[in-house]
Amino acid sequence: MDKFIIEGPTPLKGTIPISGSKNAALPLMAASLLGESATELTLVPKLQDIYTFNNVLRVTGARVDFHEKENRLVIDPKNLSFPEAPYDLVRKMRASFYMLGALVGRTGRAKVSLPGGCAWGPRPVDLHLKGFEAMGIKIDLQQGYVNASIEGEEVEGGEFTLEPSSVGATVNLVLGAVKRAKKFVIKNAAKEPDVVLLCNMLKQMGADIEGIGSSELTIRRTEKLKGITFSNDPDRIETGTFMIAAAMIPGSDLTLTGCKPTDLGAFPKSFQKLGVEFDIDDTTIRVRNSNGINAVNIKTDIYPGFPTDLQAQWATMMTQAEGESKVTDTIYFDRFSYVPELKRLGASLKVDKNKVTISGKTPLTGASVMSTDLRASVSLVMAGMAAEGKTEVLRIYHLDRGYENLEKKLNSAGASVTRVTDN
Ligand code: EPZ
Repeated sequence: MDKFIIEGPTPLKGTIPISGSKNAALPLMAASLLGESATELTLVPKLQDIYTFNNVLRVTGARVDFHEKENRLVIDPKNLSFPEAPYDLVRKMRASFYMLGALVGRTGRAKVSLPGGCAWGPRPVDLHLKGFEAMGIKIDLQQGYVNASIEGEEVEGGEFTLEPSSVGATVNLVLGAVKRAKKFVIKNAAKEPDVVLLCNMLKQMGADIEGIGSSELTIRRTEKLKGITFSNDPDRIETGTFMIAAAMIPGSDLTLTGCKPTDLGAFPKSFQKLGVEFDIDDTTIRVRNSNGINAVNIKTDIYPGFPTDLQAQWATMMTQAEGESKVTDTIYFDRFSYVPELKRLGASLKVDKNKVTISGKTPLTGASVMSTDLRASVSLVMAGMAAEGKTEVLRIYHLDRGYENLEKKLNSAGASVTRVTDN
């Protein structure tokens, strides 16, 4: 298992390019199975989750060629003949569950493993399954697998309300409906940019989807979709992560390029309250922390609210703010596994149900800390760059799932992050 050795403190100065979005790419990859011909996706990041999903797609018989140097992925579903997604792959990455919608969409049937657990949870899929049943798809659970099937070529459809609004359920239901449902309405659909991008891709493939970007999607069946060339979005969570990293370390002056600021929703509004200088133009963001940050409370929400995927990073930054701040997660109620690790660095935080209260500013001193999930891990790296002395971040395979070339990017901006293979 690899670990990072980080020497701090190191202000972040210079320019970092933003990579393609992991959470936007995965639905696009699943949608590629619905085309009659090959689809080419660009701006696909080289991440463990992408490699894992490539293998999930290959199991079905689809051909997948990842031209890594160009971040270009070509998926040809012509020879897809095995509409299944096995447990040993699905358990590695929850988003593999999108195969249910994609395979039912393409072949009219699917056998997909239920996703495994997660570092925090529970992360149920009840809305996915109830939504498919509402659409008219037969769902049968056996030995940890979901068997989905339809009578004939199409289903009546109908309507289904997501409560709560779910990104994954919206993605899965759209994938299952576009080629199979006469008319299907999803109410309280997720509006995250990842969902909008998927719907735009499917429309370009020939799908009939109304209400894109709203919380009510109406899908009408299109029998045949064509393979296309389509670009992924830049990663909005990586963008927010690096903005926070620069804001929390005094003396930073960091420019992010290749951004899509309009995907950040309400995040810039909270960021503004920190009191750091920052400029946003259509693809570039510059953040300077010349003299510290204010304590700013945040509460996560569905898009366009503050993203839960930036909750850990924000709480970590608040350890360096003057005063007390509160970070509340309304999406996941126990996504705070990073807190005990931050305390090992000298931070002062207190968790109460789905809220963490942070007392700052506390000087951070290097120590060994343990990664537990993707966003908690990157928060520990940020804390290590702000801390005095040496920090070891263990089990960084979590990071390799979602941050492309992380140490290369940070070191190019003045950080001191060394990857060590820890046998
Ligand atoms: C997506 O997960 C993201 N993953 C997550 O990012 C992100 O945290 C989450 O959306 C929320 O924005 C990908 O896009 C691959 P949800 P997803 O279904 O789709 C409840 C990261 O760090 N729910 O929108 O699984 C659920 O428990 C990852 O990149 C049900 O109750 O999230 C949660 O409270 C972590 N039943 C809420 O909905 C269901 O059937 C939102 O979950 C499904 C979800």
